[in-house]
Amino acid sequence: HRDLIGIGQLERHEILFLLDEAEQWVALNRQATKHENVLSGLTVINAFFENSTRTLLSFEIAGKRLGADVVNMHAAQSSVKKGETLIDTAITLNAMRADAIVIRHGSSGATQLIADKVDCPVLNAGDGQHEHPTQALLDALALRHALRPRGEAGDDFTGMVIVICGDILHSRVARSNLLCLQALGARVRLCAPPALMPAGIEAMGAEVYHDFDAALDGADVAMMLRLQTERMSGQFIPSAREYHHLYGLTKTRLERAAPDALVMHPGPMNRGVEIDSDVADMIDRSIITRQVEMGVAIRMAALDVLTRRARGVEGWGDAA
Ligand code: CP
Repeated sequence: HRDLIGIGQLERHEILFLLDEAEQWVALNRQATKHENVLSGLTVINAFFENSTRTLLSFEIAGKRLGADVVNMHAAQSSVKKGETLIDTAITLNAMRADAIVIRHGSSGATQLIADKVDCPVLNAGDGQHEHPTQALLDALALRHALRPRGEAGDDFTGMVIVICGDILHSRVARSNLLCLQALGARVRLCAPPALMPAGIEAMGAEVYHDFDAALDGADVAMMLRLQTERMSGQFIPSAREYHHLYGLTKTRLERAAPDALVMHPGPMNRGVEIDSDVADMIDRSIITRQVEMGVAIRMAALDVLTRRARGVEGWGDAA
């Protein structure tokens, strides 16, 4: 593949290849000096048309740690505000001879649209309700790192039950994780109020729940998602208090899961709504900050692997 648009485009062995590639960068990032010149001389443009803390910063750090020149384009300060179209913006970035373009956009399919117009690899940093592939990859890497010391994980998550609970309807994270976790052998339970569950999602192999207590029963992992009120129009929006009562992860509720079940959240968190602070901050069970750490390593792997062809280096798994 030239681009990384979604987990849906990847075979299981390609997912495992990216996770394995990221391991070297986890090790590098834990050293005092975190620099390799793998991307020296290359220009990476991060074009973010939606807000971001984790994804933007980790792509920037990833590119810099690998020696690339990294430029961030914030849509709010760009000529998009003067009416320039997405396609004209893409053609403009392409003319600057970027070697990789990272895109976050509020519309599903925007990343593919840009990929079709440019000559370099395009990495999807989240497009509308479609996909957020590097999030799913970093989640898988964080799970692997949490499970390995327990002797519970090999390369994949066969036999594990993972609950993803929250605003599934608007969540590109849920969609990418469903595809990624299933490809790696896990059973995925999706849990949301009926109005926030996409119709027909069972066809993707998900087990659908509206009762969070039932969904948590014996689960190995609880991945919590926030309510994406900025994407809601016309749906019934529960009050924060009501939502917390029915779908918030509390310490008491977590007891329904497996005895040492792990807690995940892609961020940003709304503490006291979808997750209580005393769960989010559990030292032995919450891997939320580990997810952030793995985000840098996964984005280093993605930038490295996707620019290999341009650098004349072999190695996009078996799928070159
Ligand atoms: N998880 C995630 O995508 O976070 P940001 O919106 O802060 O990038």
